[in-house]
Amino acid sequence: MSPFLLTRTLPEDATGAALRGDVLHGLTRTPKSLPPKWFYDARGSELFEEITRLPEYYPTRAEREILADRAPEIAAATGAKTLVELGSGSSEKTRYLLDSLPDLQSYVPVDVSESALTGAAEALLAERPSLNVHALIADFTRGLALPGTPGPRLVAFLGGTIGNLLPGEREVFLRSVRTLLDPGDFLLLGTDLVKDEAVLVRAYDDAAGVTAEFNKNVLAVVARELGADVDPGDFDHVALWDRDNEWIEMRLRARSALTVKIPELNLVVPFEAGEELRTEVSAKFRQDGVRTELVAAGMELTHWWTDKEGRFALSLATAS
Ligand SMILES: C[S@@+](CC[C@H](N)C(=O)[O-])C[C@H]1O[C@@H](n2cnc3c(N)ncnc32)[C@H](O)[C@@H]1O
Repeated sequence: MSPFLLTRTLPEDATGAALRGDVLHGLTRTPKSLPPKWFYDARGSELFEEITRLPEYYPTRAEREILADRAPEIAAATGAKTLVELGSGSSEKTRYLLDSLPDLQSYVPVDVSESALTGAAEALLAERPSLNVHALIADFTRGLALPGTPGPRLVAFLGGTIGNLLPGEREVFLRSVRTLLDPGDFLLLGTDLVKDEAVLVRAYDDAAGVTAEFNKNVLAVVARELGADVDPGDFDHVALWDRDNEWIEMRLRARSALTVKIPELNLVVPFEAGEELRTEVSAKFRQDGVRTELVAAGMELTHWWTDKEGRFALSLATAS
């Protein structure tokens, strides 16, 4: 089996410092909010995998359908020797790319979740012992230094995760991705598409309550990491469609008036009954919007594929 390298690109306490900063900023502003990356401790990563198997959660199945159909075309268009994957999670759908790229030498999964990275790398190496896996524990919103693996590179960002960034954050992020691309490198971007509101809301508010548990997990992370006396059971899961911004919002709504004490931050956070904390946006896209955002970041859309029902899209782009 080839060696599996795991590199932490963040200083030892960077995660703790970033969490403290985000909690301090997000819980003292109005309306309250927290960034979605804090869902993904080991339990959160497990819950996300459960979400991908729910009947209501179509994005994973739709994106898998496109990858299954189009991986040979992606391989022919890119000739990639290195596959970099941002927010790789379980790397489950990535297998279509790994199996289709004939010249692939290295796989570089990048994620904030160490448990997701090690689990994925161990499973991949058990199936493909000769694959060279260099996993990076890193925050893809903070600029990335990639290992010196051979080009051309294909940088994949799947799962519609780009929709979790707000428009201004997306602009900065796409520009930073552009700096990773040498001539001949490509970005493969998964975007969920605008569709019927009921279908969208169901995907984020499933009957079994798995997404509700995933949403509340962010409070479990804040309680464990910062010693906050917050009970996730005091909050209700909310998923709604924002028609103007064309995004789904997940929120946590306080069931009654309460206070959350976070001694580590010397902070007491009051919630009114019914007050909501925004935990995620998940923007939905249209082809023109994706093309425009890529062009603004210095990239050019070369291919656009959707699943047969037109629910989800994969874009291939190169530096312009
Ligand atoms: C919606 S899941 C998608 C997982 C997988 N790509 C898929 O398509 O099923 C988002 C993934 O991105 C990771 N993630 C979220 N924010 C991140 C950040 N700022 N930097 C690095 N990874 C992040 C999470 O840990 C999680 O594995």
